[in-house]
Amino acid sequence: MKHFTTVNHIDDLDSLLLLVKQIKSDPYSYKELGTNKTIGLLFFNPSLRTRLSTQKAAVNLGMNCITLNLNNEGWSLEFEDGAVMDGNKAEHIKEAAQVVSQYCDIIAIRSFPTLTDKEKDEAEHVIHSFLQYATVPVISLEGASEHPLQAVADILTIQEYKTKQKPKVVLTWAPHPKALPHAVPNSFIKMMQKSNVDFVITHPKGYELNPDITKNSTILYDQDEAFQNADFIYAKNWSNYNDYGKITSQDPSWMVTTEKMALTNNAKFMHCLPVRRNQIVSDAVLDGDNSIVIPQANNRTYATQAILTKILQDED
Ligand code: CP
Repeated sequence: MKHFTTVNHIDDLDSLLLLVKQIKSDPYSYKELGTNKTIGLLFFNPSLRTRLSTQKAAVNLGMNCITLNLNNEGWSLEFEDGAVMDGNKAEHIKEAAQVVSQYCDIIAIRSFPTLTDKEKDEAEHVIHSFLQYATVPVISLEGASEHPLQAVADILTIQEYKTKQKPKVVLTWAPHPKALPHAVPNSFIKMMQKSNVDFVITHPKGYELNPDITKNSTILYDQDEAFQNADFIYAKNWSNYNDYGKITSQDPSWMVTTEKMALTNNAKFMHCLPVRRNQIVSDAVLDGDNSIVIPQANNRTYATQAILTKILQDED
């Protein structure tokens, strides 16, 4: 594996999951692999899980880890070719990416979408600029349109908690007061399409995601129907994709409640976190016995460690 910025970079999911499970059972088994190697974590946006789990994954591999919050600590970066830099952008991505590549063996980037410029967001403008100018592997810590490390942790969690060969997994939209990106649902959908699951997406009419990503996945506009016999409920808000980045529904009836969960096959509740209580999901569901959001977050470390392992192995 050279880079990891999309679920598409996984060529053999089964062997990746074997590696993740092996690493989870023995987190220090590749302790020598990262010796004298450095990962640079560049954050344009806030994070709790991704930042800490990636640092922990790197340390478990014996790597050094340096972190820069580019939104308030680094120079403001210019990404446009040929820009006349007479504004507030102090450094061009061409120099920045090459310089960071001299300090780091892997560069990891979090850069959320604008939610105003669909073309730029779908082109993964920031991450692709690093891919273009960096001379070392690049991984996504959540880009404009995908969060692939989250998706690896998600499928590991489903494998750990499933009680049947082919569980029914439902991705449900849920209301949120702010306009949120499409990255988590996009990567989750791609991962479910690679997995042996009965997969259903449910959301209000108008909240269709990119059809190039949903492809032929089942989409239901009736959440109660979608929840019938579900083994996993994965809740997530996203903003409108067609009326790009807008909030066109905050319908509270889409919140995941105990009444909704009662329609399922005693389903486990999943969310990538952070989650807004009593907006996305009721306290009773989130605090209930079937909520697996905490072990799901724990799996972020081992998912990321496996990706770093594969990149380091392929570098040697
Ligand atoms: N799920 C996730 O990416 O969490 P953070 O935004 O806290 O990193």
